[in-house]
Amino acid sequence: MNTTLSQKERTLLEDAKSHEQVCIQKYSNYANQAKDPQLKQICKANEQSERTHLDSINQLLSGTIPNMNAQNSNKNMTPSPTNQSPQLSFSDKDLCSDLLMTEKYVSSTYNTAIFEFRDTNVRDILNHIQKEEQKHGEAIFKYMESKGLYNVQ
Ligand SMILES: [Fe+2]
Ligand SMILES: [Fe+2]
Repeated sequence: MNTTLSQKERTLLEDAKSHEQVCIQKYSNYANQAKDPQLKQICKANEQSERTHLDSINQLLSGTIPNMNAQNSNKNMTPSPTNQSPQLSFSDKDLCSDLLMTEKYVSSTYNTAIFEFRDTNVRDILNHIQKEEQKHGEAIFKYMESKGLYNVQ
C-alpha cells in the first residue's frame, strides 16, 4: 500500500526518524553501560523495537505503508551481542531516568504528529509506534519500581 506525503508530513517523519536514531543509540550504549544484567536485557529488547520503528518510518518516507503484522514478528529478535564496558560515573538509576524522559518525549511527539496526517493508515502506524513507546517506558518504570528506584507517591 502506498501513500503520498505533504511537505509537513515529510518534515514530521524526518523528525521521528532522528528521534528513533537517538533511541537506538541510547539503548545500545546503555545496554553496555548498565551494571544489572536484567536492565541490559530491557535495553537490548527496546533497542530492537526502536530499530523496527526506524524501518517503519523509513518506509513511510519512501511512500510505503509498512505491514504491522510483519512489525510484530520482529519483536522477539535476538539482540546483537554488545561489548561490556561499565562506566561507573552513570548509575543504573540515572540511566533509567534518562530513558524514561526520552520515551515520554518521543511518545508525545508521535501524539502531536498524528494529528497532522491525512492518511488513516499512516495515523494507525504512528499510533502503533506510539503505543510501543509507552510500552518501552512501562518496561523501564516496572524495572525501577521493582528495584525501589521509583518513588510511587
Ligand atoms: Fe521508537
Ligand atoms: Fe521507545
